[in-house]
Amino acid sequence: MTAYNVADYREMARRRLPRAFFEFVDRGTEDETLLGLNRRALDAVRLRPAVLQDVRGVSTEAALLGRAVPFPVAIAPTGAANIVGFRGEEALAAAAARAGVPFTLTTSSTSRIEDVARAATAGFWLQLYVWEDREATWQVVDRAAAAGAEALVVTVDTPVMANREYNGRNGFAFPVRPSLRLGLDIARHPRWFAGVLCRYWLSGGTPRYVNYPAQVGGKVTQKVSRIANSASVTWEDVARFRDRWTGRLVLKGILLPEDAARAAELGVDAIVVSNHGGRMFDAAPPAIEALPAVAAAAPPGLQVLFDSGVRRGLDILRALALGASGVLVGRATLYGVACGGQEGAAHVLEILREELARGMALTGCRSLAEVDQRILWPG
Ligand code: FNR
Repeated sequence: MTAYNVADYREMARRRLPRAFFEFVDRGTEDETLLGLNRRALDAVRLRPAVLQDVRGVSTEAALLGRAVPFPVAIAPTGAANIVGFRGEEALAAAAARAGVPFTLTTSSTSRIEDVARAATAGFWLQLYVWEDREATWQVVDRAAAAGAEALVVTVDTPVMANREYNGRNGFAFPVRPSLRLGLDIARHPRWFAGVLCRYWLSGGTPRYVNYPAQVGGKVTQKVSRIANSASVTWEDVARFRDRWTGRLVLKGILLPEDAARAAELGVDAIVVSNHGGRMFDAAPPAIEALPAVAAAAPPGLQVLFDSGVRRGLDILRALALGASGVLVGRATLYGVACGGQEGAAHVLEILREELARGMALTGCRSLAEVDQRILWPG
């Protein structure tokens, strides 16, 4: 199958991956209403067609956290790249580098911060989950600084673990435990088994959480104290991060204007308007609906990024028209890396860039400076 768009990559990933892992990537939380709402709300944003404009040489160039980028996209942190592909995290980082855009590594990755930092040559951001033991947390932060991370992305919408019942039904939980159901699922997907699991076994065994502080633990088959401890994280921690971290500080998972204003007061550089891709809180609003009010409340020094549901370049254009200055993509590049490693992810990024440029031409915008609420169709 030839992939022409992100939906094609999704379909290919669905066939290739064991169901447990595809659903882990693809699905939402509880009744999964937000997953569909994110998409419907994006589709409902209509743009004004422009005709008879000279739109030769459309430029998608932008700046993300002070770095010039060919188009305003960064890869979102996802704890799944190394499950869907062999060394998927490094492959994603290299694909981002080829496209000239930043890559965000999650703390929960099984790839070392230092290895991914080397591959992510067009910007390396580290996403942080905060442990109860703040000293343990600082170890990760200091390691990220030493590896040259430009931004610390603190995820603020995960005070508790999400409820994802399908994972239980599929026999896939953390810590990972062998089960008949999972075993059969894997057996039915020999390409993944040979291309991913066997390669890990041949190159050093079961992946570990290599970035967790020593006192937290590291085996994916063992219980580690992870996200649940984020329940104690407050705005005071944000102030402490600001004092200690000299790079760019980003809060990911903001949906309210007052939270954006407070982030700016504390010296945060950017926020990501996000509902975690519909994976955390099923009663939350679609992120694209929350975006305009948040963008309006953000002072000039606070960059507003967006994620949750981006599958087309037109979605990037919609978010930019509604006040974002860049977007993060999660699942889109995961589908790509699942099917074609670095090439697949790089192709997804190229597709998104081309679609964005086409959408700009159709709305009469030659540069991103011209993309704002004026291209929105009233309604
Ligand atoms: C995520 N996301 C996420 N976010 C985060 O801050 N830390 C993490 O470890 C993860 N892990 C993760 C795993 C998987 C499989 C997915 C799909 C997502 C959320 C991610 O960063 C981003 O907010 C969403 O993926 C954006 O929505 P789309 O682009 O996937 O629709």
